[in-house]
Amino acid sequence: MATISPNVSFFFLLSLLLASSPSLSQDPIGYGYQLHSLHSHASGGLFTAQLQLIRNTTIYGPDIQKLNLTASFETKDRLRVRIIDAERPRWEIPAEIIPRQIQACLYGEEIKTDNNLSTATSDLFVTITSTSPFGFSVARRSTGEVLFSTSGHSLVFKDRYLEISSYLPDKKANLYGLGEHNKPSFRLVPGDTLTLWNSDTPSMFTDFNLYGSHPFYMDVRTPEGMAHGVLLLNSNGMDVIYEENLITYKAIGGVFDFYFFAGPSPVEVIDQYTALIGRPAPMPYWSFGFHQCRYGYKNVSDLENVVAGYADAGIPLSVLWTDIDYMDDFKDFTLDPVNFPPDKMKSFVDYLHSHGQKYVVIVDPGISVNSSYETYKRGLKDDIFIKWNGSNYLGVVWPGDVNFPDFVNPTASKFWSNEISIFRKTLPVDGLWIDMNEASNFITSPPLTELDTPPYRINNSGVQRPINNNTVPASSLHFGNLTEYDVHNLYGFLESRATHSALIQDTGKRPFVLSRSTFVGSGRYAAHWTGDNAATWDDLAYSIPSILSFGLFGVPMVGADICGFNGNTTEELCSRWIQLGAFYPFSRDHSEKRSTRQELYLWRPVAQSAKKALGLRYKLLPYYYTLMYQAHKLGTPIARPLFFSFPEDPNTYGINKQFMVGDRVLVSPVLEQGKTTVEAYFPRGRWFNLFDHNDTVEVSPGNQVTLEAPQDTINVHVRGGSILVTQKTESISLGEQREYELLVVLNEEGTATGEVFLDDGEVVEMAGELSEWIRVNFTSKVDGKTVSLNSEVVNGKFGTEKMFVKKVVFLGLRPDSKAGVAPVFVLHQLKSGGKIVRGSGSYSVQGKFGVAVVDD
Ligand code: NOJ
Repeated sequence: MATISPNVSFFFLLSLLLASSPSLSQDPIGYGYQLHSLHSHASGGLFTAQLQLIRNTTIYGPDIQKLNLTASFETKDRLRVRIIDAERPRWEIPAEIIPRQIQACLYGEEIKTDNNLSTATSDLFVTITSTSPFGFSVARRSTGEVLFSTSGHSLVFKDRYLEISSYLPDKKANLYGLGEHNKPSFRLVPGDTLTLWNSDTPSMFTDFNLYGSHPFYMDVRTPEGMAHGVLLLNSNGMDVIYEENLITYKAIGGVFDFYFFAGPSPVEVIDQYTALIGRPAPMPYWSFGFHQCRYGYKNVSDLENVVAGYADAGIPLSVLWTDIDYMDDFKDFTLDPVNFPPDKMKSFVDYLHSHGQKYVVIVDPGISVNSSYETYKRGLKDDIFIKWNGSNYLGVVWPGDVNFPDFVNPTASKFWSNEISIFRKTLPVDGLWIDMNEASNFITSPPLTELDTPPYRINNSGVQRPINNNTVPASSLHFGNLTEYDVHNLYGFLESRATHSALIQDTGKRPFVLSRSTFVGSGRYAAHWTGDNAATWDDLAYSIPSILSFGLFGVPMVGADICGFNGNTTEELCSRWIQLGAFYPFSRDHSEKRSTRQELYLWRPVAQSAKKALGLRYKLLPYYYTLMYQAHKLGTPIARPLFFSFPEDPNTYGINKQFMVGDRVLVSPVLEQGKTTVEAYFPRGRWFNLFDHNDTVEVSPGNQVTLEAPQDTINVHVRGGSILVTQKTESISLGEQREYELLVVLNEEGTATGEVFLDDGEVVEMAGELSEWIRVNFTSKVDGKTVSLNSEVVNGKFGTEKMFVKKVVFLGLRPDSKAGVAPVFVLHQLKSGGKIVRGSGSYSVQGKFGVAVVDD
């Protein structure tokens, strides 16, 4: 019988480890670090610890010997735990990219009991759970619950491989986030490997890393519904492996810079998260209208016919888009002289503008390498392109050979801004669509340095593709000698920032930028669409988890290509898709050039669905815009999971097929072929169908309800207790439009509240100190037979003299025992002098609840 010497057994164990999952942290031999020294600062919950390597590991390169760990409360709800190399600076995302407090703010009195460091005022506290190997945990003071704990899993910290794991409690943790991926389930599923490395992979592939990277998750704990957030602020490629009781991060560079957000409600977590990464950019009012696009529009007449097609069918169209087809040989900032000549294009855009419509075009980052192309020549002169092997890196995209502007370089942003401004003189486009910015590259360059082949292969594209696959090589150099290896995931973010600022400079108005690639904080500059989905029933359904995830990432203006991008859609699918897409925050029909055309007027039943669903969308525009205001101020998503409004109801945690617009409107679409009913979950309360006010659902507690959903119908319900301000027309201009209606939806207690925010729809700052805006809070109450409606103007600077409430509809009035007695409506005038109707209406009892209408 063979005996195994200690040495042999060591290598035997190591090879076993390598053969299965090469995760170092669970190795029994005792890798990791031990606590070497601990220093707690005199005041505030702040400590630093020095960690010393226990034993070298042999895979993924040499270990870093000494680490510094700092735990600090940056605000009372935000705990930062940062672990860096103690002896040598490493790549970290600079503060000018994600502005944050490097210096800890000190809150409350420090409490120190046996390595227990916290502040008196925060609900979070951090504990050193073991000194060798070193481990820490983050727990919630009010419940004692452990939120994150590295105990039992050693740290690994090498130059190009970092690993850390946290225990998650059995069946209590509900995780959301860690994108971008296309998935059936919004709640993360144990067994998932979530790879973050920005890549041009069609979003129709489930589970692959897609265009953006967001190493952030929210965890809602069952059954209490208390939520917290965790961000690993690291831009390097990584795999996040989520198992039943464990989450493991395997990053190929940077540092561990963790932020823990205390919540405890989901809304508060996102408030705390976006306070750090930046609040979402306000979007112009017009961008909440319906958009039509296609890759493959042939010429100006094609565009004109699409606009006419919508007008003739009576389907609202606010924004027309053009893909790369408009360019001359796919060169940015040029127009195809034959099919999209400047004079015709200018007249076309003027036509759109005179009809209250907008126009958006695409631009790609790759600049065609062509000695007679002025943009390229200016780029060369300014020396703003990414470098590789001593020259400008040469990639291939639509125009053929391209160089990529290095948006890390401030001169590149100036170059970009100048090009946009020159182009807008020829064609005054209203917004820009920045595509292919992962950056996408049609070639894969061979490895040049060791950066191109890191020792740990992340699960790129689901099959461990090289990190250089179809992008700029990792060994490329950016301004300041930064490597693509480190800043790859920031490319789309930086292009969004440059484009956003260029548009403000050139137009003086609030910009609209749509970006495919995103990173932590991209919402400050851009909207996002979910990329190249497929015209399938699956992708229709998966658009809901994707959109909800971007709400968590601080990018609330998000939508998926309506009717599907790749492949041929069908009449039924397109009809169901516009019913759902009409309620996405960003609502755009877009398709690939080889697919059949899918403008909504092309099929009568689709047109009918579109008119109905978009009809309601346009009525709700003031509501969507008010949600944009809330998103801009507090980060709160526009499209929200049900658990944001009902965290105490665990039935809402696993919902993938419904969502809420704000916290008042519930959308329950049909997502399956041939179905004309929907199984919808209704949280406790009273819900009124927004298409038919007499159709109501009342549940206590929450319940599953089967709803009728004929082919032209989507179910959209408003929750009792809401006051919605709606508009009567399909206009996207707030300039002249001042007529509104109020929908007052009373709850079981006979009360309702609501608010509206309005400004001119395109002033750069939303609710800024100097800009003109109005916010009105409404409250309504039933008292005996009297229903009162009050308004309180928070800021009356914006055009109230021209604002009229033309009609008030009350829903949910209980039938009086002496039926037929009319209640009196007391309608208070807006304090600022704006007019609002006064009057009394007849109280007709229809169905279960009374509906009353007061008309001007
Ligand atoms: C890829 C984008 O995802 C898609 O929307 C666009 O149509 C094509 N590029 C062509 O520009």
